[in-house]
Amino acid sequence: MIKLHDLEFEPYIPEENIFSAIDKIAEELNSIYAGKRPVFIGVLNGSFMFASEIIKRFNGDCEVSFVKMGSYEGTTTTGTVKTLVGLNQDLKGREVVLLEDIVDTGNTLVEIDQILKNAEVADYKVATLFFKPEAYKKKVPVQIKGIEIPNKFIVGFGLDYDGLGRNLTQVYKRKENRMTNLVLFGPPGAGKGTQATILKDKYNLIHISTGDVFRFNIKNKTELGLSAKSFIDKGLLVPDEVTINMLNAEVEKNEGANGFIFDGFPRTEAQALALNSYLESRGTEVHAMIALEVEDEVLVQRLLERGKTSGRKDDADEAVIRNRISVYYNETAILKNFYQKQDKYYGVDGVGSINEITERLSAVIDELMK
Ligand code: IMP
Ligand code: MG
Repeated sequence: MIKLHDLEFEPYIPEENIFSAIDKIAEELNSIYAGKRPVFIGVLNGSFMFASEIIKRFNGDCEVSFVKMGSYEGTTTTGTVKTLVGLNQDLKGREVVLLEDIVDTGNTLVEIDQILKNAEVADYKVATLFFKPEAYKKKVPVQIKGIEIPNKFIVGFGLDYDGLGRNLTQVYKRKENRMTNLVLFGPPGAGKGTQATILKDKYNLIHISTGDVFRFNIKNKTELGLSAKSFIDKGLLVPDEVTINMLNAEVEKNEGANGFIFDGFPRTEAQALALNSYLESRGTEVHAMIALEVEDEVLVQRLLERGKTSGRKDDADEAVIRNRISVYYNETAILKNFYQKQDKYYGVDGVGSINEITERLSAVIDELMK
């Protein structure tokens, strides 16, 4: 394990695998460009090690340039114009091999593609040491790929994290945080509270209920609690930022936890995005939104039943109950959509005995924890 700035990295691709990928790429290039005189263009900074290894292995005549992506403000009609800084030869009619350390989203490649076409090269091919197929969304063909990797952040062999790690001779990936973080949803009466309590014990997770966190902070007059209260007292909604900071503080209090069950949060897409970026900064993510699904009629009956003994006013009136249920669906539709798009939405049948429902929820969580 190594540490660069604030982040931990663990060994991922050993030197010998990198070199066998390089051997294969070099072999391919030697066969494509046998008897020709290609211009190798290394894209700095990341590609310096890879380019050097490839060029050493090239048998015929070749020329070498190193470039950096740059930009200058063009005329008002062209906006920012991308350039290749350091290119000191005419590429017109030449066969070019672009040497990239890594192709990720492909944004850089799209820029370079345009520049090379404008320079009227005869032909160009891209040879990249690392390629992230899940991240690549562009159409520019990447003909020669060394090692395909999942969408993870890597360093070493030329690649850096904020300037550090380029000198490492093997490749490391960001150390994974093996937490399981769930966002639990359920309409009123679905049994969410009961299940959250069971699941937190069963999986040793921390249950963060927004309501509880608010009450705790307000009662204890924490800075964030006082801030929240000042909005509540004015009859205003507590701004997302205050809510998020309160929950982040809660996560931070539980350093080393197995994971969290978020309950009552996020409520808006803005909150969901903020939660994502916060968890990402801690090397983890929301793994699933699990929603208990119960038909409206069943919910109404359950709540009316509960109202007979709970003494809760909002459980006694059918119109109020129906309104709470519809508020729930309006509110969660956006979030369901948000997590569905990321393949993270799990609907679980919420009708049955407490045990049966726990079993169904556990099936989802067990799969996530595999
Ligand atoms: P693009 O997203 O394909 O345009 O890649 C842009 C640049 O991001 C690459 O040239 C690298 O400098 C950097 N990059 C992308 N993925 C990684 C990574 O996993 N580690 C380090 N740098 C990366
Ligand atoms: Mg690069």
